[in-house]
Amino acid sequence: MLIAGNWKMFKGPAAARAFFDGFEPPADVDVVFCPPFTSLEAALESGRTVYAQNVHWEPRGPYTGEVSPEMLVEVGVAGALVGHSERRQLFGETDEMVARRARSALDAGLGVIACVGETLEQRESGDTELVLKIQVEAISFAAGDRQNLVIAYEPVWAIGTGKTATPEQAEEAHAFIKGLLDRPILYGGSVKAENAAQLLAQPSIDGALVGGASLEPDSFAAICRAASTS
Ligand code: PGA
Repeated sequence: MLIAGNWKMFKGPAAARAFFDGFEPPADVDVVFCPPFTSLEAALESGRTVYAQNVHWEPRGPYTGEVSPEMLVEVGVAGALVGHSERRQLFGETDEMVARRARSALDAGLGVIACVGETLEQRESGDTELVLKIQVEAISFAAGDRQNLVIAYEPVWAIGTGKTATPEQAEEAHAFIKGLLDRPILYGGSVKAENAAQLLAQPSIDGALVGGASLEPDSFAAICRAASTS
């Protein structure tokens, strides 16, 4: 089981260090932290696995505001998220950009958690599988047989809304994605200590990508414990 915490634009270095002082997860769960860029080094001091929240596809160049795979490797970061729905929706990231980010990161030796998921409008108009197929195939084509790739299924309507997909809805989407690409798949979207065990018990759910509930050591450790027992 892999449990990843996406801190989004929360926690500078001091808050990151304070988090790790109080965080005690079970030993048998792989835990990954995705802090903001300025807190990567503080998070790395904890000895935990640290991923960035995004990564560019070029090694260097005139790309203001971007960070390259090589720069992440240099500081000891182990991987990166790509294609988070907030990047896609608020910053205009396309499937092509997500695919290029994923391939360059994998080529640099980073792990990648690539996010996919449908909006409420897409789900209601019956297009969930079409959207997932387009998003997953772009990532799959770019990754080829590079191994260090995990998919995160995050229905956009469930992110930060308190509306979790039911375990059945999540399982259905995960099983569909597994039919396209045989990689571990994390579920994300309002995962918390109270619903984690039920979601993680589904056969095609291999872990969770947690936003809000990863910000407090106790709630995040409780999710990790649910992963340990399921
Ligand atoms: P949430 O965020 O757990 O706060 O819904 C999940 C995510 O955006 O990865």
